[in-house]
Amino acid sequence: MTINHFRTAAVAALLLSGTAASNADSLTLYCAADEAWCQQIKTGFEAETGITVDMTRKSSGETYAQVRAESGNPKGDVWWGGTGDPHLQAAEEDLTVAYESPMRGELYDWAIRQAEAAGNKTIGVYSGALGFGYNKDLLAKNNLPEPKCWADLIKPEYKGQVQMANPNSSGTAYTMLATMVQLMGEEKGFEYLKALHANINQYTKSGSAPIKAAGLGETTIGIVFMHDAVAQTAAGFPIVTVAPCEGTGYEIGSMSLIKDARNPESAKKFYDWALTADMQSKAKDVKSFQLPSNKNATVSELTPDLSSIKLIDYDFKKYGSSDERKRLLKKWDDEVSTLPQ
Ligand code: F6P
Repeated sequence: MTINHFRTAAVAALLLSGTAASNADSLTLYCAADEAWCQQIKTGFEAETGITVDMTRKSSGETYAQVRAESGNPKGDVWWGGTGDPHLQAAEEDLTVAYESPMRGELYDWAIRQAEAAGNKTIGVYSGALGFGYNKDLLAKNNLPEPKCWADLIKPEYKGQVQMANPNSSGTAYTMLATMVQLMGEEKGFEYLKALHANINQYTKSGSAPIKAAGLGETTIGIVFMHDAVAQTAAGFPIVTVAPCEGTGYEIGSMSLIKDARNPESAKKFYDWALTADMQSKAKDVKSFQLPSNKNATVSELTPDLSSIKLIDYDFKKYGSSDERKRLLKKWDDEVSTLPQ
Protein backbone atom coordinates (compact mmCIF):
# COMPACT_ATOMS: atom_id res chain seq x y z
CA MET A 1 0.00 0.00 0.00
CA THR A 2 1.43 3.42 -0.96
CA ILE A 3 1.34 6.30 1.48
CA ASN A 4 -1.50 7.83 -0.50
CA HIS A 5 -3.51 4.60 -0.45
CA PHE A 6 -2.88 4.32 3.25
CA ARG A 7 -4.09 7.90 3.79
CA THR A 8 -7.25 7.33 1.76
CA ALA A 9 -8.04 4.14 3.68
CA ALA A 10 -7.37 5.85 7.01
CA VAL A 11 -9.61 8.81 6.12
CA ALA A 12 -12.37 6.43 4.98
CA ALA A 13 -12.11 4.48 8.25
CA LEU A 14 -12.24 7.72 10.22
CA LEU A 15 -15.29 8.90 8.32
CA LEU A 16 -17.02 5.57 8.83
CA SER A 17 -16.33 5.51 12.55
CA GLY A 18 -17.41 9.17 12.68
CA THR A 19 -20.76 8.25 11.15
CA ALA A 20 -21.20 5.34 13.52
CA ALA A 21 -20.31 7.57 16.46
CA SER A 22 -22.90 10.16 15.52
CA ASN A 23 -25.59 7.47 15.62
CA ALA A 24 -24.66 5.50 18.69
CA ASP A 25 -22.60 7.78 20.87
CA SER A 26 -24.09 11.23 20.71
CA LEU A 27 -27.34 13.02 21.41
CA THR A 28 -28.58 16.54 20.84
CA LEU A 29 -30.89 17.47 23.69
CA TYR A 30 -33.23 20.46 23.72
CA CYS A 31 -33.95 21.07 27.37
CA ALA A 32 -36.71 23.44 28.50
CA ALA A 33 -36.60 23.20 32.30
CA ASP A 34 -34.32 24.98 34.75
CA GLU A 35 -30.66 25.28 33.67
CA ALA A 36 -29.31 23.43 36.72
CA TRP A 37 -31.63 20.47 36.10
CA CYS A 38 -30.72 20.44 32.38
CA GLN A 39 -27.01 20.27 33.32
CA GLN A 40 -27.63 17.50 35.83
CA ILE A 41 -29.49 15.48 33.19
CA LYS A 42 -26.76 15.99 30.58
CA THR A 43 -23.95 14.84 32.87
CA GLY A 44 -26.06 12.06 34.44
CA PHE A 45 -26.96 10.52 31.08
CA GLU A 46 -23.38 10.85 29.81
CA ALA A 47 -22.00 9.13 32.91
CA GLU A 48 -24.49 6.27 32.72
CA THR A 49 -24.33 5.55 29.00
CA GLY A 50 -21.11 7.01 27.61
CA ILE A 51 -23.23 8.89 25.06
CA THR A 52 -22.05 12.49 24.59
CA VAL A 53 -24.86 14.99 25.04
CA ASP A 54 -24.94 18.36 23.30
CA MET A 55 -27.52 20.23 25.40
CA THR A 56 -29.20 23.57 24.72
CA ARG A 57 -31.51 25.19 27.27
CA LYS A 58 -34.33 27.41 26.06
CA SER A 59 -37.87 28.25 27.19
CA SER A 60 -40.83 26.11 26.08
CA GLY A 61 -42.24 28.36 23.34
CA GLU A 62 -38.74 29.11 22.05
CA THR A 63 -37.89 25.41 21.84
CA TYR A 64 -41.10 24.73 19.93
CA ALA A 65 -40.21 27.54 17.50
CA GLN A 66 -36.71 26.10 17.03
CA VAL A 67 -37.97 22.56 16.39
CA ARG A 68 -40.44 23.94 13.89
CA ALA A 69 -37.86 26.17 12.15
CA GLU A 70 -35.44 23.22 11.85
CA SER A 71 -38.04 20.70 10.66
CA GLY A 72 -36.61 20.62 7.12
CA ASN A 73 -33.22 19.64 8.54
CA PRO A 74 -33.65 18.65 12.21
CA LYS A 75 -30.67 19.15 14.49
CA GLY A 76 -32.22 18.13 17.81
CA ASP A 77 -32.93 14.51 18.77
CA VAL A 78 -35.02 14.83 21.90
CA TRP A 79 -36.95 17.68 23.51
CA TRP A 80 -37.16 17.19 27.23
CA GLY A 81 -39.15 19.33 29.65
CA GLY A 82 -41.00 22.57 29.41
CA THR A 83 -44.77 22.88 29.60
CA GLY A 84 -46.84 20.33 27.70
CA ASP A 85 -48.82 22.71 25.47
CA PRO A 86 -46.12 23.33 22.83
CA HIS A 87 -45.26 19.61 22.87
CA LEU A 88 -48.90 18.90 21.99
CA GLN A 89 -48.81 21.56 19.30
CA ALA A 90 -45.62 20.03 17.84
CA ALA A 91 -47.28 16.58 17.84
CA GLU A 92 -50.28 17.93 15.97
CA GLU A 93 -47.98 19.62 13.44
CA ASP A 94 -46.11 16.33 12.90
CA LEU A 95 -42.79 17.69 14.17
CA THR A 96 -42.36 14.80 16.62
CA VAL A 97 -42.76 11.01 16.43
CA ALA A 98 -44.73 8.38 18.35
CA TYR A 99 -42.94 6.08 20.79
CA GLU A 100 -44.25 3.73 23.46
CA SER A 101 -41.60 3.35 26.12
CA PRO A 102 -41.39 0.15 28.19
CA MET A 103 -41.34 2.50 31.21
CA ARG A 104 -44.98 3.56 30.76
CA GLY A 105 -46.28 1.09 33.38
CA GLU A 106 -44.48 3.04 36.12
CA LEU A 107 -46.09 6.39 35.30
CA TYR A 108 -49.06 8.27 36.75
CA ASP A 109 -52.26 8.41 34.69
CA TRP A 110 -51.82 12.13 33.97
CA ALA A 111 -48.52 11.42 32.22
CA ILE A 112 -50.10 8.71 30.07
CA ARG A 113 -53.17 10.85 29.31
CA GLN A 114 -50.81 13.48 27.90
CA ALA A 115 -49.32 10.77 25.62
CA GLU A 116 -52.73 9.53 24.55
CA ALA A 117 -53.88 13.07 23.70
CA ALA A 118 -51.05 13.22 21.15
CA GLY A 119 -51.02 9.74 19.58
CA ASN A 120 -48.02 8.90 21.83
CA LYS A 121 -45.87 11.64 20.31
CA THR A 122 -45.26 13.13 23.76
CA ILE A 123 -45.42 12.03 27.40
CA GLY A 124 -45.58 13.63 30.85
CA VAL A 125 -42.34 13.85 32.83
CA TYR A 126 -43.46 16.07 35.73
CA SER A 127 -46.30 18.25 36.90
CA GLY A 128 -46.65 21.50 38.85
CA ALA A 129 -49.22 24.15 39.72
CA LEU A 130 -49.16 27.79 38.66
CA GLY A 131 -49.21 30.49 41.31
CA PHE A 132 -47.05 33.38 42.38
CA GLY A 133 -44.47 34.29 44.94
CA TYR A 134 -43.47 37.50 46.65
CA ASN A 135 -40.46 38.93 48.42
CA LYS A 136 -41.70 39.41 51.98
CA ASP A 137 -38.98 41.96 52.86
CA LEU A 138 -39.84 44.17 49.89
CA LEU A 139 -43.55 43.81 50.56
CA ALA A 140 -43.06 45.01 54.13
CA LYS A 141 -40.71 47.80 53.01
CA ASN A 142 -43.31 49.05 50.52
CA ASN A 143 -46.12 48.69 53.05
CA LEU A 144 -48.09 46.41 50.79
CA PRO A 145 -50.72 43.88 51.89
CA GLU A 146 -50.03 40.18 51.31
CA PRO A 147 -51.45 39.14 47.93
CA LYS A 148 -53.47 35.92 48.24
CA CYS A 149 -55.63 35.84 45.09
CA TRP A 150 -55.31 36.51 41.37
CA ALA A 151 -57.73 39.40 41.99
CA ASP A 152 -55.21 41.06 44.31
CA LEU A 153 -52.55 41.35 41.62
CA ILE A 154 -54.58 43.88 39.59
CA LYS A 155 -55.09 46.25 42.51
CA PRO A 156 -53.56 49.71 41.91
CA GLU A 157 -51.27 49.45 44.96
CA TYR A 158 -49.24 46.78 43.14
CA LYS A 159 -48.50 49.02 40.15
CA GLY A 160 -45.00 48.24 38.87
CA GLN A 161 -44.57 45.49 41.47
CA VAL A 162 -45.50 42.42 39.40
CA GLN A 163 -43.38 40.54 36.89
CA MET A 164 -44.27 37.65 34.58
CA ALA A 165 -42.88 36.14 31.40
CA ASN A 166 -43.99 36.68 27.83
CA PRO A 167 -46.39 33.85 26.82
CA ASN A 168 -44.85 33.62 23.33
CA SER A 169 -41.48 32.47 24.64
CA SER A 170 -42.53 31.05 28.00
CA GLY A 171 -44.70 28.03 28.72
CA THR A 172 -45.26 29.32 32.25
CA ALA A 173 -46.79 32.54 30.95
CA TYR A 174 -48.85 30.70 28.32
CA THR A 175 -50.18 28.47 31.13
CA MET A 176 -51.13 31.66 32.98
CA LEU A 177 -52.92 33.06 29.91
CA ALA A 178 -54.82 29.80 29.28
CA THR A 179 -55.59 29.51 33.00
CA MET A 180 -57.24 32.95 33.09
CA VAL A 181 -59.34 32.10 30.04
CA GLN A 182 -60.48 28.83 31.66
CA LEU A 183 -60.98 30.27 35.13
CA MET A 184 -62.89 33.42 34.14
CA GLY A 185 -64.11 32.84 30.57
CA GLU A 186 -62.35 34.43 27.59
CA GLU A 187 -63.78 37.93 27.84
CA LYS A 188 -63.22 38.37 31.58
CA GLY A 189 -59.88 36.55 31.34
CA PHE A 190 -58.60 39.09 28.81
CA GLU A 191 -60.01 41.98 30.85
CA TYR A 192 -58.00 40.61 33.74
CA LEU A 193 -54.80 40.33 31.66
CA LYS A 194 -55.24 43.93 30.47
CA ALA A 195 -55.71 45.18 34.03
CA LEU A 196 -52.69 43.14 35.13
CA HIS A 197 -50.61 44.69 32.32
CA ALA A 198 -50.85 48.03 34.14
CA ASN A 199 -49.06 46.51 37.13
CA ILE A 200 -46.39 44.58 35.22
CA ASN A 201 -42.84 45.99 35.40
CA GLN A 202 -41.37 43.58 32.82
CA TYR A 203 -42.29 40.58 30.66
CA THR A 204 -39.28 38.26 30.77
CA LYS A 205 -38.28 35.61 28.24
CA SER A 206 -38.01 32.72 30.70
CA GLY A 207 -40.86 31.64 32.98
CA SER A 208 -38.91 31.36 36.21
CA ALA A 209 -36.97 34.65 35.75
CA PRO A 210 -39.61 36.76 37.61
CA ILE A 211 -39.23 34.85 40.87
CA LYS A 212 -35.44 34.83 40.59
CA ALA A 213 -35.72 38.62 40.20
CA ALA A 214 -38.01 38.76 43.26
CA GLY A 215 -35.43 36.78 45.23
CA LEU A 216 -32.83 39.41 44.34
CA GLY A 217 -35.22 42.25 45.25
CA GLU A 218 -35.72 43.47 41.67
CA THR A 219 -39.50 42.98 41.72
CA THR A 220 -41.88 42.35 44.62
CA ILE A 221 -44.10 39.70 43.01
CA GLY A 222 -43.39 37.08 40.34
CA ILE A 223 -46.08 35.00 38.59
CA VAL A 224 -44.50 31.55 38.21
CA PHE A 225 -45.02 27.86 38.84
CA MET A 226 -45.20 27.34 42.59
CA HIS A 227 -42.24 24.92 42.54
CA ASP A 228 -40.05 27.69 41.10
CA ALA A 229 -41.03 30.00 43.98
CA VAL A 230 -40.32 27.24 46.53
CA ALA A 231 -36.87 26.78 44.93
CA GLN A 232 -36.00 30.41 45.70
CA THR A 233 -37.00 29.98 49.36
CA ALA A 234 -34.90 26.80 49.48
CA ALA A 235 -31.97 28.80 48.08
CA GLY A 236 -32.28 31.20 51.03
CA PHE A 237 -34.19 34.10 49.49
CA PRO A 238 -37.10 35.75 51.37
CA ILE A 239 -39.79 34.37 49.05
CA VAL A 240 -43.31 33.33 50.07
CA THR A 241 -45.21 30.99 47.72
CA VAL A 242 -48.93 31.54 47.09
CA ALA A 243 -51.60 29.18 45.73
CA PRO A 244 -54.14 31.73 44.41
CA CYS A 245 -57.45 31.61 46.31
CA GLU A 246 -59.66 31.39 43.19
CA GLY A 247 -57.93 28.21 42.01
CA THR A 248 -55.25 27.81 39.40
CA GLY A 249 -53.96 25.95 36.36
CA TYR A 250 -51.09 23.51 36.17
CA GLU A 251 -48.61 22.04 33.71
CA ILE A 252 -47.72 18.58 32.58
CA GLY A 253 -44.05 19.05 31.74
CA SER A 254 -43.44 16.81 28.74
CA MET A 255 -40.90 15.07 26.52
CA SER A 256 -40.98 14.33 22.77
CA LEU A 257 -38.77 12.65 20.17
CA ILE A 258 -38.01 14.96 17.25
CA LYS A 259 -39.01 13.70 13.79
CA ASP A 260 -36.20 12.71 11.39
CA ALA A 261 -33.66 13.01 14.22
CA ARG A 262 -30.01 12.17 13.47
CA ASN A 263 -29.58 9.95 16.53
CA PRO A 264 -32.90 8.13 17.00
CA GLU A 265 -31.43 5.21 18.98
CA SER A 266 -29.68 7.46 21.51
CA ALA A 267 -32.87 9.51 21.71
CA LYS A 268 -34.95 6.44 22.67
CA LYS A 269 -32.35 5.42 25.25
CA PHE A 270 -32.58 8.90 26.75
CA TYR A 271 -36.39 8.80 26.66
CA ASP A 272 -36.55 5.50 28.60
CA TRP A 273 -33.92 6.72 31.07
CA ALA A 274 -35.77 10.03 31.64
CA LEU A 275 -38.83 8.07 32.77
CA THR A 276 -36.99 6.06 35.44
CA ALA A 277 -37.61 6.64 39.14
CA ASP A 278 -33.90 6.99 39.74
CA MET A 279 -33.41 9.80 37.22
CA GLN A 280 -36.53 11.68 38.37
CA SER A 281 -35.64 11.32 42.08
CA LYS A 282 -32.48 13.40 41.52
CA ALA A 283 -34.35 16.56 40.47
CA LYS A 284 -34.69 17.75 44.05
CA ASP A 285 -30.87 17.73 44.42
CA VAL A 286 -30.79 20.74 42.04
CA LYS A 287 -33.85 22.38 43.63
CA SER A 288 -36.33 21.31 40.97
CA PHE A 289 -39.43 20.57 43.00
CA GLN A 290 -41.95 19.46 40.38
CA LEU A 291 -43.99 16.29 40.99
CA PRO A 292 -42.25 13.43 39.09
CA SER A 293 -44.31 11.34 36.63
CA ASN A 294 -42.79 8.03 37.80
CA LYS A 295 -44.84 6.75 40.75
CA ASN A 296 -41.74 5.25 42.40
CA ALA A 297 -39.64 8.42 42.33
CA THR A 298 -38.95 10.02 45.69
CA VAL A 299 -40.67 13.36 46.12
CA SER A 300 -39.14 16.22 48.08
CA GLU A 301 -41.08 17.43 51.09
CA LEU A 302 -40.79 20.89 49.50
CA THR A 303 -42.76 19.83 46.40
CA PRO A 304 -46.12 21.65 46.51
CA ASP A 305 -48.86 19.13 47.30
CA LEU A 306 -51.13 19.28 44.26
CA SER A 307 -53.97 17.54 46.09
CA SER A 308 -54.19 20.44 48.54
CA ILE A 309 -54.27 23.13 45.82
CA LYS A 310 -57.52 24.17 44.13
CA LEU A 311 -56.78 23.12 40.55
CA ILE A 312 -58.93 23.85 37.52
CA ASP A 313 -59.76 21.05 35.13
CA TYR A 314 -57.16 22.30 32.64
CA ASP A 315 -58.06 21.30 29.09
CA PHE A 316 -54.60 20.37 27.77
CA LYS A 317 -55.86 19.09 24.44
CA LYS A 318 -57.70 22.32 23.63
CA TYR A 319 -55.07 24.78 24.88
CA GLY A 320 -52.25 22.73 23.40
CA SER A 321 -53.89 22.64 19.99
CA SER A 322 -52.13 24.53 17.25
CA ASP A 323 -55.07 26.80 16.34
CA GLU A 324 -55.97 27.72 19.91
CA ARG A 325 -52.42 28.41 21.04
CA LYS A 326 -51.74 30.58 17.98
CA ARG A 327 -55.06 32.41 18.36
CA LEU A 328 -54.61 33.19 22.06
CA LEU A 329 -51.01 34.33 21.63
CA LYS A 330 -51.98 36.64 18.78
CA LYS A 331 -54.85 38.05 20.81
CA TRP A 332 -52.50 38.68 23.74
CA ASP A 333 -49.97 40.35 21.39
CA ASP A 334 -52.65 42.52 19.77
CA GLU A 335 -54.81 43.41 22.76
CA VAL A 336 -52.65 43.22 25.87
CA SER A 337 -48.94 43.73 25.16
CA THR A 338 -49.56 46.85 23.06
CA LEU A 339 -51.47 48.71 25.79
CA PRO A 340 -49.73 51.65 27.44
CA GLN A 341 -48.67 51.14 31.06
O1 F6P B 1 -38.08 26.13 35.88
C1 F6P B 1 -38.79 24.98 35.65
C2 F6P B 1 -40.02 25.25 34.88
O2 F6P B 1 -40.89 26.07 35.60
C3 F6P B 1 -40.75 23.99 34.49
O3 F6P B 1 -41.56 23.45 35.51
C4 F6P B 1 -41.51 24.43 33.28
O4 F6P B 1 -41.92 23.34 32.51
C5 F6P B 1 -40.53 25.34 32.60
O5 F6P B 1 -39.72 25.87 33.63
C6 F6P B 1 -41.19 26.43 31.85
O6 F6P B 1 -40.24 27.36 31.46
P1 F6P B 1 -40.64 28.56 30.51
O7 F6P B 1 -41.80 29.26 31.13
O8 F6P B 1 -39.41 29.41 30.48
O9 F6P B 1 -41.01 27.98 29.20
